[in-house]
Amino acid sequence: MGENEKKQVIFSGIQPSGTLTLGNYIGALRNFVKLQDDYDCIYCIVDEHAITVRQNPADLRRRCLELAAIYIASGLDPKKNLIYCQSHVSGHAELAWILNCFTYMGELSRMTQFKAKSAAHADNINAGLFTYPVLMAADILLYQTNLVPVGVDQKQHLELCRDIAQRFNAVYGDVFTIPEGYIPKIGAKIMSLQEPEKKMSKSDPEDTYIALLDDPDTIRRKIRRAVTDSDGEIRFDPENKPGVSNLLAIMSALGAGDVETIAADMQGKGYGELKNRTTEVVIEALSPLQAEFKRLIADKAYLQSVIDENAKTANALALRTLRKVQKKVGFAPRG
Ligand code: TRP
Repeated sequence: MGENEKKQVIFSGIQPSGTLTLGNYIGALRNFVKLQDDYDCIYCIVDEHAITVRQNPADLRRRCLELAAIYIASGLDPKKNLIYCQSHVSGHAELAWILNCFTYMGELSRMTQFKAKSAAHADNINAGLFTYPVLMAADILLYQTNLVPVGVDQKQHLELCRDIAQRFNAVYGDVFTIPEGYIPKIGAKIMSLQEPEKKMSKSDPEDTYIALLDDPDTIRRKIRRAVTDSDGEIRFDPENKPGVSNLLAIMSALGAGDVETIAADMQGKGYGELKNRTTEVVIEALSPLQAEFKRLIADKAYLQSVIDENAKTANALALRTLRKVQKKVGFAPRG
């Protein structure tokens, strides 16, 4: 890419709820570090999305800063990547309002996440839960985003975002860049420790995942209890031996060699030893990140300055799109 060529924009929104897992780290976070020189990356902590379900204010406040610290501790340079809180850039909510007027009730009613969340929170089916995908579309479109790394669960929302953008552009000209999904090339899929046919997820019970901030004893205990199988052979075979293969995949993803080599090295050894080795590899991989996290979270002034600075930069970018949109729809000019 030439010096003066504009880099493509990658936008990702992360909910400040729950913990991040080893699966998030291997499948997403860690790969983000490799993007920071080639793309303009925006990592938005989506606190406005988070309040579509009831939150404890003190916890929400704390988790926003923790998330920023985890991102930085994973190796994302806050001078190269925009890491900030959604609620600090008012353009998100303002654009969402306008886009609400270009989105149909029928479209929103078809969103599977809305159906699932309203079933799970039957006592609080609020309008924000319903228009959640419109706020997400605003997040993305505000920055003229080219690429959005999304898992399968967010694909439908991204499709809707594209539809809204195309609909708007059809009326007013080329206002929004039409974003595409971004599937990272590499990154092993890490499975649940208890049901290794399922992806590791923070929404499952505690003992099914390793949290990025789990201490060594917790990691040891969780891996010791990981489900394996009864044939006793260490071999990479995700189809027939999902538990054992998952442990091999975890080690391999964390730099212990390719799965076949690790398996060959451990021929004749028992599962106890496989688990011990996996535990060592995981602890060793996470400890620098955890140490850095600890250092950062103790330095609130620094974290605050990072999210303040980055929100300022984000705001300037957001206003460019927002002002254009406001003009296009016919809002009176500002003096
Ligand atoms: N809805 C996303 C999730 O739950 C979070 C999100 C909000 C997002 N805005 C976004 C993801 C914009 C990508 C782009 O995971």
